[in-house]
Amino acid sequence: MRLGIIGLGMVGREVLLYMFQFSASQEIVVYDVNKERTQAEIWDLEDSIPLGHFNHYSHMRVADEYSDIKDCDYVFVNASIPAKNLTDRRALLAENEKLMKEIGEAVAKYSPNAIVIITSNPVDAMAYYFIKYSGMSPQRVIGSGDVLDTVRLRRYISSHFGVSALNVTSFVLGEHGNSSFIPWSIAQIAGVHVDTFSQMKGLPLIDKLKAKEFVRKRGLDIYNLRGFTDRGIGASVYTIFSAIAQNEQRIMPISALLQGQYGIDDLVIGALSVVGSNGIEKILEYPLTDDEIKLYHTSAEFIREAMK
Ligand SMILES: NC(=O)c1ccc[n+]([C@@H]2O[C@H](COP(=O)([O-])OP(=O)(O)OC[C@H]3O[C@@H](n4cnc5c(N)ncnc54)[C@H](O)[C@@H]3O)[C@@H](O)[C@H]2O)c1
Repeated sequence: MRLGIIGLGMVGREVLLYMFQFSASQEIVVYDVNKERTQAEIWDLEDSIPLGHFNHYSHMRVADEYSDIKDCDYVFVNASIPAKNLTDRRALLAENEKLMKEIGEAVAKYSPNAIVIITSNPVDAMAYYFIKYSGMSPQRVIGSGDVLDTVRLRRYISSHFGVSALNVTSFVLGEHGNSSFIPWSIAQIAGVHVDTFSQMKGLPLIDKLKAKEFVRKRGLDIYNLRGFTDRGIGASVYTIFSAIAQNEQRIMPISALLQGQYGIDDLVIGALSVVGSNGIEKILEYPLTDDEIKLYHTSAEFIREAMK
């Protein structure tokens, strides 16, 4: 398997670390405008090889040009203008659109059959622009969407109830950003609604506003205190990648191009989708409440406005 990584900042490094250890990856080609730092990152990672902690290592190299990202099975796009001191991911939109044009055209030319996983923010708009400029099938262009937000929500719910996060099936949907929402009508723990679970366990109902605030603020808190986030997003990207590489047919709230679902058309936004070997196998339309559909539309408008 041949992999391309475009953008080797904090997020790209974490993606590289996961892919370096992935057993089926044979070659990883990394393109970043800062080639010297990229080479140093690769040398640093190569130093771990003789210690023998893993059975497999991929061969890594720096791309001189976009043309070196050729014939890749997967391309990870994490390129961005500097994202420091952010309060709203939309501040990156105009400059990162230019990057998506450049990168989208290059990937379409040199790796037209790749599946593309994008983290660059604002990720819903960036996935839209990538589809637009590359002309690639929207099925094969996947934004990380609300996967990370959803993991944060699951941790919050799991600690409220004192149960494993693996038993929590709840999601964040909509924009990966301030207008995202939590569809509580489909939030469950081991098969029952979260509020029913509260009664079963004799616990107070979960404070839904606090849960939303926690999810909304967690990324910004990490940014403010640390200057970047990489671990959660790296693991989220690896989860999306694994679902495709291993054809898991896994349901995840990735950024997908909606074409009429939930009454939203021609917009990329976080939506529950089946992810498998073809990329986005199907966008699922959940039976949300009227109020939740309204929140979906508000979030969609938020993205549309920013893209005007
Ligand atoms: N989707 C999510 O959940 C999520 C989470 C964290 C970060 N992000 C986003 O991911 C992006 C990357 O974050 P980061 O912390 O790694 O930023 P960063 O500034 O550390 O890295 C960005 C990298 O892109 C490179 N770059 C710039 N222009 C390029 C080009 N034309 N081609 C190739 N590389 C180029 C830069 O040299 C830099 O190494 C940001 O937009 C950030 O907001 C998304």
